[in-house]
Amino acid sequence: MKRMLSGIKPTGQLHLGNYIGALRHFVEYQDEYEMFAFIANLHCITVPQDPKELQTNLRDCVALYLACGLDPAKANIFLQTDVRAHAQLGYIMCCHTYMGELNRMTQFKDKMAHGEKNLSGGLYTYPSLMAADILLYDPDYVPVGEDQKQHVELTRDLAIRFNNRYGDLFKVPEPLVAKVGARIMSLSDPSKKMSKSDETNKGCIYLLDDLKKARKKVMSAVTDNCANVHFDPENQPGISNLMQILSSLSDERPMGEIEAEFAGKGYGEFKRSVADAVCAKLEEIQTRYNEVLSSGEIDRALNSGAERANLIADEKLAKVQKALGMEIIR
Ligand code: AMP
Ligand code: TRP
Repeated sequence: MKRMLSGIKPTGQLHLGNYIGALRHFVEYQDEYEMFAFIANLHCITVPQDPKELQTNLRDCVALYLACGLDPAKANIFLQTDVRAHAQLGYIMCCHTYMGELNRMTQFKDKMAHGEKNLSGGLYTYPSLMAADILLYDPDYVPVGEDQKQHVELTRDLAIRFNNRYGDLFKVPEPLVAKVGARIMSLSDPSKKMSKSDETNKGCIYLLDDLKKARKKVMSAVTDNCANVHFDPENQPGISNLMQILSSLSDERPMGEIEAEFAGKGYGEFKRSVADAVCAKLEEIQTRYNEVLSSGEIDRALNSGAERANLIADEKLAKVQKALGMEIIR
């Protein structure tokens, strides 16, 4: 069985972009692949976190993995810190990543360009840790949203670098970026991606948003004055974003079909359909979320996930340290 791995940071609440760009694919693929889905709680502290809030977000993140349909009987769900090999291989990866490579990473560059102060060393070397997360498990594919593709490409370069220097150590993984929904944009500013750090809170639909609030966010989404439901991300970014959301939530309905359904109809009617689809999905997720929270499933899932992950990760780390000559062979 081929293997797949991905992770999400528990910074803030998970949102519709996380679901559409990443989480729904984890669920979709769990039958066909051996899936490793972890919570990146080392990555999240690369920016300051309030410890109390982080506690809540961590638990919610696992609960939402389960509520969205990840099944611990099929997928290995675990916390990054429960598998210590991540930090250790992360350090080794860091020592093999060139500063020039880290300087080119757009996520870090964007933060620098925004003039954010006191950026941490951890944020800078984040892609090396991400490479370790992936390479520990030799996955064939890494399903991610568009913004993470560059990091997976660096991971590939690092895997090849290690294999050339030290012999065959790692499988070279492929990023898996869906054609539709890999970059869901903010509803209030469709030139920016939907993100947990949305200051106005109007552009981001959280998976745990109150349904009325979510509906309102969709209904007041920024569109244009073309009065035509047409898929054209360049000239009609707001409408195209809503079409991507609708398509992703309705079995990837083709854009042409959506255009035909709403030909000659107003944006109000189109937005109502998008809001219906969003609210139906949120309701389904939230119902299951409430069950999960009171069921003890979270701890059981994390324990069994970590057990399996540790087995694989420890073996890989030992192999790497040996290949690098770092261990005294007894
Ligand atoms: P993060 O919240 O940054 O940890 O992202 C977790 C996963 O969700 C990654 O695979 C991201 O690429 C994906 N993701 C985050 N924001 C979006 C978005 N606005 N649209 C699509 N995918 C996203
Ligand atoms: N960097 C990813 C994000 O911000 C989260 C992540 C950490 C990840 N390690 C990973 C994703 C390994 C895929 C594989 O979204």
